[in-house]
Amino acid sequence: MLDRLDVPVIAAPMAGGVSTPELVAEVGRAGGLGFLAAGYLSVEALAAQITRTAELTDRPFGVNLFVPGSRSSADLTEHRRRVARAAAVAGVEPGEPRWDDDHYSAKLELVLALRVPVVSFTFGAPDHADVERLHAAGATVVVTVTTPAEARQAERIGADVLCVQGCEAGGHRGTFVDDGVSPGGGELYGTLAALRLVSAAVDLPLIATGGLVHGADVAAVLVAGAVAAQLGTAFLACPEAGTAQAHRAALAQGGTHTALTRAFSGRPARGLANRFLTENTPHAPAAYPDVHHLTKPLRATGDPELMSLWAGQTYPLAEAAPAAEIVRRLHEQARHAVNSVALRGAPT
Ligand SMILES: Cc1cc2nc3c(=O)[nH]c(=O)nc-3n(C[C@H](O)[C@H](O)[C@H](O)COP(=O)(O)O)c2cc1C
Repeated sequence: MLDRLDVPVIAAPMAGGVSTPELVAEVGRAGGLGFLAAGYLSVEALAAQITRTAELTDRPFGVNLFVPGSRSSADLTEHRRRVARAAAVAGVEPGEPRWDDDHYSAKLELVLALRVPVVSFTFGAPDHADVERLHAAGATVVVTVTTPAEARQAERIGADVLCVQGCEAGGHRGTFVDDGVSPGGGELYGTLAALRLVSAAVDLPLIATGGLVHGADVAAVLVAGAVAAQLGTAFLACPEAGTAQAHRAALAQGGTHTALTRAFSGRPARGLANRFLTENTPHAPAAYPDVHHLTKPLRATGDPELMSLWAGQTYPLAEAAPAAEIVRRLHEQARHAVNSVALRGAPT
């Protein structure tokens, strides 16, 4: 179904309160596809969001789940010390680091029971048996990948579509296993490079994501073989998004580069380079979600120097406009871009 969208534009799932039923419904109304983000939500809150979305729209929509990884054995001592110091200055207690599975099984049962039309996964691939159950419930299964090796793994478990994420992307990288060494948790491919390599490795429809902000970018990835473009940062400033005020203000202010960091969650993610990110990235351990729980009270202060301000590399070009207008604009720009390309000279 993803290759039959009226507009080949997908609003990325954005956990942490950004994706809302209103955002998803408006993107669907404009002919694109919206995603709810199950990450960090309770099962009850996710159920309420799915029900609300179905009330707002008859169009198909998606839900994104975090695939749980294994428990980290990384040493957290140094990072705990640094977070405790920042917390003391901010007047809050640091959180208690712990592993959890984000209620993965219960959320999977929920999307099956509520017959969510599109279910996507990040941080890994689901089991083959779960993919079969989703297919039996009529769902299209999407798996986020960042390398050809992950793409082959996702193809083996029966994914219908892959979401190919380049390292320009805002928020967490979908890397299956964080190597704990390189800044991105594994090889860093840009969106076009990842798309090319993955399309040579597997025979599945591909969604491209990472750094896409203009209709010309949408056209570019379609020309390069994608069936749709998934945009996150481009929708952060929409009135329908649940983006925190401090996050909106930091994006609008600009003047800062983005960087990959494990400092907030223990997994590589791209955000605006504020003080906490800059000071803590070099020593942050690969320990997700332990570090996520550790830094939670700091992030909740609302202080833009302490919050995770997730953003893709092209964030200065994102505009504050209603979601349906953004989808329409992207479509128009994409058409224009395709029509204005002229390849000169005949092939010899
Ligand atoms: C605030 C924010 C939250 C995100 N949360 C999720 C998520 O819950 N699940 C997911 O698969 N991807 C998540 N992403 C990544 C997006 O799916 C997508 O890969 C990324 O936004 C694309 O890059 P762009 O932001 O440059 O458009 C998030 C991105 C942002 C900016």
